[in-house]
Amino acid sequence: MTDDIRVELQLKITQLERYNKLLGDGLRQPEKQRALYDQMAQELKSVKSLLILQDRQLEAKLQAHTQELLAAQEELVRKEKLALLGQVADNVGHELRNPLGVINNAVYFLQAVLTDADETTKEYLGIIKSETEEAERIVSDLLDAVRTKAPRTETVHVAELIGQTLRRCQIPAAVSVKLDVPDALPAIQVDPVQMQQVLWNLITNGVEAMPQGGTLEIAASADEPTHSVRISIKDSGMGIAPAQQTRLFQPLFTTKARRVGLGLVVVKNLTQANGGNVEVWSEPGKGAVFTVVLPGSEAIAGTV
Ligand SMILES: Nc1ncnc2c1ncn2[C@@H]1O[C@H](COP(=O)(O)OP(=O)(O)O)[C@@H](O)[C@H]1O
Ligand SMILES: [Mg+2]
Repeated sequence: MTDDIRVELQLKITQLERYNKLLGDGLRQPEKQRALYDQMAQELKSVKSLLILQDRQLEAKLQAHTQELLAAQEELVRKEKLALLGQVADNVGHELRNPLGVINNAVYFLQAVLTDADETTKEYLGIIKSETEEAERIVSDLLDAVRTKAPRTETVHVAELIGQTLRRCQIPAAVSVKLDVPDALPAIQVDPVQMQQVLWNLITNGVEAMPQGGTLEIAASADEPTHSVRISIKDSGMGIAPAQQTRLFQPLFTTKARRVGLGLVVVKNLTQANGGNVEVWSEPGKGAVFTVVLPGSEAIAGTV
């Protein structure tokens, strides 16, 4: 487009030079002179608007390049942080997993034998159990965030995937879940365990964004031209400030007191490992939508 403008500008300038030469060669009749001046004024006007147009296009190009550069830089920082985190996490994560497993088993045993314990004891055993599970989840997230295992892909039906994930999520009564998942969606080729982890994280974030309750909408649709399947999770929560949107996928970015900020790192890594992508839309006060775009079976077959 900018090239077209350049060619047109060149033509206009050549034309103006011709008129100028005609005037210089001494055009006697005043009417002809006036006509020529009028024409030159017209040409100058269009040169001016062409220059403005070119300016706008260059500006837009510059903005697009700047955006690309910023995104690339963001990704680089993310990778760097992950590498750093990886060195620590691998050791600590593995070391922590064993004692946590032992605690979990011990609580399981105590709960089994102390069936007639008083309510307070039962309550405290329950607390130990749920907190241990939480700690195990953090360790798993940490390990998943720093090294993504190769996906074990199989043919997965989106409705089943969403159903299985939802069964594992704790949805408070104040949150109503709306599903819009057509039966006729194409199957996808993904690792079901990894994709459940992705959806679990997004659903949990959505729920956590609505502490007073709200609506969580899970929708899936097929994109015919690209054969991809889009799964979106929309909440009616507090939304995300623009300044924070660029940091969402950075390791350890969290705005929550009792969280670690690895969920979206896991989401991004696992989605990318499964050939997909994550998109975010949010406006503060209007909730957020996280969309996972996954290649359908046909799209994958086409690339092999
Ligand atoms: N649906 C959402 N609505 C509002 N903020 C969100 C949402 N999902 C993620 N966030 C923001 O992104 C941050 C990072 O999310 P995540 O990586 O899952 O870490 P964590 O949940 O441990 O804080 C959250 O702390 C929160 O500030
Ligand atoms: Mg989270």
